[in-house]
Amino acid sequence: MNVTFAAPATIAAGSWVVGAVEGGVLLPAAAKADKASGGALSRALEFARFKGRPGQLVEVLAPAGLAASRLLLVGLGKPEALDEKTLETIGAQVAARLLTAGETRASLEIDAPKGCKVKKGEIAAHLAFGAKLRSYAFTRYRTRNLEEYEQKLAALTVLTPDPAAAKKIWAGLAAVADGIFLARDLVNEPPNVLYPEEFARRVRARLGKLGVKVEVLGEAEMKRQGFGALLGVGQGSARDSQLVVMQWNGASAKKKGGKPVAFVGKGVCFDSGGISLKPGNGLMGMKGDMGGAAAVTGLMLALATRKAKVNAVGVIGLVENMPGPDALRPDDVLTSLSGQTIEVLNTDAEGRLVLADALTYTQRRFAPKFVIDLATLTGAIVATLGFEHAGVFSNDEALTGRLLAAGRATGERVWQLPLDPFYDKMIKSKIADMKNIGGPNSGAITAAQFLGRFIEKDTAWAHLDIAGVAWQDGEQKPQIPSWGTGWGVRLLNRLVTEHYES
Ligand code: BES
Ligand code: MN
Ligand code: ZN
Repeated sequence: MNVTFAAPATIAAGSWVVGAVEGGVLLPAAAKADKASGGALSRALEFARFKGRPGQLVEVLAPAGLAASRLLLVGLGKPEALDEKTLETIGAQVAARLLTAGETRASLEIDAPKGCKVKKGEIAAHLAFGAKLRSYAFTRYRTRNLEEYEQKLAALTVLTPDPAAAKKIWAGLAAVADGIFLARDLVNEPPNVLYPEEFARRVRARLGKLGVKVEVLGEAEMKRQGFGALLGVGQGSARDSQLVVMQWNGASAKKKGGKPVAFVGKGVCFDSGGISLKPGNGLMGMKGDMGGAAAVTGLMLALATRKAKVNAVGVIGLVENMPGPDALRPDDVLTSLSGQTIEVLNTDAEGRLVLADALTYTQRRFAPKFVIDLATLTGAIVATLGFEHAGVFSNDEALTGRLLAAGRATGERVWQLPLDPFYDKMIKSKIADMKNIGGPNSGAITAAQFLGRFIEKDTAWAHLDIAGVAWQDGEQKPQIPSWGTGWGVRLLNRLVTEHYES
């Protein structure tokens, strides 16, 4: 679906989408359409019990007196409450109705209602962003009944009094959409196709040509450098483990050599649990255990595509966690890149082992301004926060505050949970520096506490446990037609935009 912006003009074909505020009051374009169609719209909305709630729809097909194939009236809710997120939801609802309805083109003409705080260009751009995100589909492996999934809607024109402003904002949002789509694709790919080396190849192919420096460390190199924890997780797999380092150096001339911001992602391409094998139900969906790495990759793509004025580093640890004769055992002791030793008591607590080495590497090589890690780390975070918030754990209050605010603004919300010496005691080992599991309770916290052991003095750090938000199945969230959500790309792009661009 291609998006363009233009000044309002007569609609010669396709769907004409217009708006109404809460109470069903038609905005000017809607009133114009109503009049031109001999009152068809106002009659239809009466029969439909239309209240103008955000995203509520009323459709009039083949309206008499108009060249448009249909009129679609969409509710905006209360003008004072309209914000970027609500506009995106409205755009998504409109797209959902039209994408597979057989329509090939649509024109959105949604006026800024009186009392709305969002600027005209922003309204247009965020409506388009919502529609664009909703148009994502993962159809690579479908070979039959393709008509059922085919999106005929090829052109979305957003009509706005300020197309120039809209286009400028859209350029940034389109880059973010590209990053989200890449992250979703990576999560949705099956694990027989997307294993560590293939993931690394795709990073090279997509980011290399955007000016991102991509380096890949294989097992031999990691072994030489001492990545004992990450390699321990991958040793039971027939696939080689990989560490991918992405660098985007976009800071303006005066900040050219400045410290980068750093993002680290858990990339377990399939998490069987290893020798501590998961039960059948727990195995399904574990292709998505690389959601953190996917988000970091998508973010780096977004930053490079929109030429963000920032120095940013993305580091992803890619492994497959499998049982087998060479697999890591419960009771094994690993020596991490930091030199600290880890008694492995459960091979299913593997994400923290991968992150431990990736975090050490990132801090020692780049001395970043901050490091944020993203990981589908624990089932416990899902039990705690469900599907609407990621957990955030941090040693830096300013960074936490910025993440909370960016979450509220983008809708990718985070909720803070504690780090504390009390919980740190729970990962004491009898024979090594620490063990890789805590007790039966507060599992998301002990996992974060474990990661904290690999944060060097003075590094500002935040850990995002995204196990509940990185992917969804249709039953939990029927409005999301896919598995991978690309969660994190919007949030972190916002964080960078607001606070770290020069
Ligand atoms: N990848 C899982 C966490 C997970 C669970 C993500 C469910 C998404 C949905 C992680 O590697 C894991 O297995 N964690 C264990 C840790 C435990 C063994 C201490 C868990 O949460 O049960
Ligand atoms: Mn696991
Ligand atoms: Zn895992």
